[in-house]
Amino acid sequence: MVNDIVFVKEVPQKCSVVVGVYSDGSLSDSATKLDSLLQNIITKNLQRLDWANCKQFETREFLHSSEEYNHIVLICLGEKDKRYKPAELSQLGVNIYKATEKLDSTICVYIDAADVHMPCSRAPAMIAMGLQLRSWKFDKYISKRKNKAKLEKVQFCVGDVEGVTEKFAALSNIAQGVFLTRSVVAEPANVIYPESFAMIAQQELMPLGVKVEILDENAMRQLGMNAILGVGQGSAHAPKLVVLSWNGSEDAPIAFIGKGVTFDSGGISLKPDDGMADMRYDMAGAGTVLGLLKAVALNKLPVHVVGIMALVENMPSGTAQRPGDIVTSMSGQTIEILSTDAEGRLILADALWYAQDRFHPKAMVDLATLTGAIVVALGHEFAGLFSNDDELVSDLLKSAEITGEKLWRMPLTQYFDDGINSSVADMRNLGKPGVRAGSITAAQFLQRFVNGVNWAHLDIAGVADTDTDLFPSDKGATGFGVHLLHNFLEMGVRTCSPQSDAEASGDKSGA
Ligand code: BES
Ligand code: MN
Ligand code: ZN
Repeated sequence: MVNDIVFVKEVPQKCSVVVGVYSDGSLSDSATKLDSLLQNIITKNLQRLDWANCKQFETREFLHSSEEYNHIVLICLGEKDKRYKPAELSQLGVNIYKATEKLDSTICVYIDAADVHMPCSRAPAMIAMGLQLRSWKFDKYISKRKNKAKLEKVQFCVGDVEGVTEKFAALSNIAQGVFLTRSVVAEPANVIYPESFAMIAQQELMPLGVKVEILDENAMRQLGMNAILGVGQGSAHAPKLVVLSWNGSEDAPIAFIGKGVTFDSGGISLKPDDGMADMRYDMAGAGTVLGLLKAVALNKLPVHVVGIMALVENMPSGTAQRPGDIVTSMSGQTIEILSTDAEGRLILADALWYAQDRFHPKAMVDLATLTGAIVVALGHEFAGLFSNDDELVSDLLKSAEITGEKLWRMPLTQYFDDGINSSVADMRNLGKPGVRAGSITAAQFLQRFVNGVNWAHLDIAGVADTDTDLFPSDKGATGFGVHLLHNFLEMGVRTCSPQSDAEASGDKSGA
C-alpha cells in the first residue's frame, strides 16, 4: 500500500516518472518542462511509440538510459481541452497506480492542475486520492505473495505545494475511512461477528472523539427490539447495537443506519450453498457507517452525526427464528416472518425506529446489502436509492456525481406498500406472491419504520464488494458510500436551518 504521498515543487533526482500527453500527441505543460530537462527524450519516444489518438488514461512506458529517470510512463489525458470531473481525476490516479505498482518503490508524477485544465489545488489532490484508494489490498491471509506491488512512495510535482497538501490531507482522511470500511467488510465471518465488530468500533473511533455506546441483548430487550433479537436468536454470537455520535455541531443530527449482518446463512430459510460465502459482507452497510464516522472525526466536520450499526449473525439452529413466527418490533408494529432470509429489513426496522425515536434527526440515511434483486435491476454499477424526500435525493445525487459512487433512484408506491400487508399481523417480511421487484418491497417495508422523517435508503448489495473494475478499489470490498456521504455532509443538507439554506442558494448564484 502507498502510505507516503507528498507534494513537491522541485524536480527530484533519480525517480521513475509519470507524465501526461493528450490524445492529439501533444505534451501537457508539465510534460513539456520535464522533456526539456531530459533532452527531449519524451518527444523522441513519443514519435517512436506511434501513439496518435490514444485513449483516455491508457498508459505506455519506456526506459530511459540515463540512471536518473529509469522508467518513464506516459499516461493519456484524453482530449486536449477536456474539463475533467472530480471522479475522473480519481480514476486517473487509479490508472497511474495500476501502471506503476510493480515498476519501482518510488515514482514522481508530473501532472499538475493546469495539465487537466482545472485551476484549483483540488485536482492533483483528487488524483492522489484515487491512487491511494487503489493501492489498498486485503492480503493479510496470503502467507507468500508472489509478484508483490513495489510502489510505496509517490511524489507529485506541483506548483501550489501548500494548497494541494492541505486538500490532500482532508481527502486522505476520507481514504482512511474507506480503508477501515474495506478492512471490516473483507474480513471473514469467523473474525468479524457482532462483538468483535463492536470492539473495532471502540478501538478505532473512541480515540478520535467519537462517542461509542454498545447496547447488548438485555438493553435491546428492554427497548422492545424484538425484530433484531429474533434474527440473532439462532446464533452463538449475541447481537449488538452500536451507537456512534460525533457532536460537531449543536444542530439536530443526521443519522446513518447500517445493516450489519456479520454472516447471512439465510437462517432456517437456508440459502443454497452457491455463493453463500459472499454473505460475509452482509455487514457492509454497518461497515460504511463505521468508516464514515472515522472520516468525519478525522476531518473534524462541524456537523452532528449519529451512526447506528445493527450487528447480528443470521444462523439456523434449534433456537433460531422460524418462518411463520410473528414478532412485535420496537415501534409496536407486528411482523409475520415468512422468510428468515429477509432479515435485513427486520433489523433495520428496529434500528430506524430507534434512530428517529431517540435522536429526532433532520434526516436518516440507511445503507444495506438488502436484496439480490437490486443486483438484477442495477448490476454492479449503481446502488439503489429510495427516498421519501426529493431534496434529500437531489443532494445525494449531487454528491454521487462528484465522488463517482453512482446512485440510481428507484420508486416507492402504494402498490408495493399494499403488497406487504399480512392477514395475521401488521405486515409480512416478504411481498405477496406475484408482486416482484423485491428491492422495492424491501424499501417499502423500511418506510413503515421511518415515522415520517426525511429518509433515504441505499441498497448497496451490488456495489459493496465486487469482481468488477468499476470502483477505485481492487477486486473485493469497495468501501462504497464513505466518500459519497462524507461529501454529502460537507455540502450541508437542505434540512439545515432556513438561514443556512438561504446562504447555500446565495452561494450558488454567486458562483
Ligand atoms: N443479504 C441478502 C441480500 C444480498 C444478496 C446481498 C446478494 C448481497 C448479495 C439478503 O438478506 C437476502 O437474503 N435477501 C433475499 C430477500 C428475499 C428472501 C426476499 C434475496 O435477495 O434473495
Ligand atoms: Mn438474507
Ligand atoms: Zn442479508
